[in-house]
Amino acid sequence: MTGVDTVPVDEIRRELSFDEQISFASEWRTRPLREWVMDADDATLRYLFRNFRPRRHLEFGTWQGDGVLRCVEECDATVWTINVLEGEVRPDGGWAYGELETAESDPPTPWSERLSTNDGVWARTDSYGQIGRKYLKAGWGKRVCQIYADSRDWDTRAYPDGFFDTAFIDGGHAADVVENDTRQAVRLVRAGGLVIWHDFCPLEEVTRQCESTRDVVGFITAHLEELRGSFTRLFWVEPSWLLFGIRSN
Ligand SMILES: C[S@@+](CC[C@H](N)C(=O)[O-])C[C@H]1O[C@@H](n2cnc3c(N)ncnc32)[C@H](O)[C@@H]1O
Repeated sequence: MTGVDTVPVDEIRRELSFDEQISFASEWRTRPLREWVMDADDATLRYLFRNFRPRRHLEFGTWQGDGVLRCVEECDATVWTINVLEGEVRPDGGWAYGELETAESDPPTPWSERLSTNDGVWARTDSYGQIGRKYLKAGWGKRVCQIYADSRDWDTRAYPDGFFDTAFIDGGHAADVVENDTRQAVRLVRAGGLVIWHDFCPLEEVTRQCESTRDVVGFITAHLEELRGSFTRLFWVEPSWLLFGIRSN
């Protein structure tokens, strides 16, 4: 374990003084965390947006736009979301996010990257015209400020300290990206606001088997004392892959 506090999902209401009690499916309560599903974290995040009601939300890592949808559909926030334009590259040089097109696939968006192989045609799902395609298709572009950049190169000088009410850290999962995005979020989220990290699960069996969690947990664990200086509360929601931090003054 990491030294971070644990809060049962049913206790988020008390921690954050919400009126509504979360509705969390029984199948997720017994599911092993090494086989976690995004639907469960989606429910927790939607509950959070519906009750915390940020006006300005920041997301690191747009991908196809599901993270934006769960915020704009639950509250009135405007969302700033950042994604590297060319898509994430794996250490071996391959695409980090792609899918094989099938008869059921949406038609390719304009300006999207595709690759013909013996298996069929692959679409890269986190680059160029694919970035944020779900929120655009659903008509939410008017509530979204899309930034195309590697978050390590994002120039945030125009944003005053505490500009955002909430931030969701879900971009690159390598240690240097997690560190950069955390430091940006700490400066940019107001006192009393929330920073939420995805891919945080402190169980050793999860960090051993699920690569995306390894550096997130590693960074938080190694910098816990420093982070405690920026947050009044830091807690893992059990069961989830979510870490919540309440910003201090
Ligand atoms: C896990 S996905 C994001 C999922 C999205 N937040 C959601 O809830 O649906 C991670 C995304 O981060 C992007 N990404 C990876 N490294 C990045 C970096 N250094 N800067 C900006 N975006 C990055 C990837 O291209 C990918 O689209």
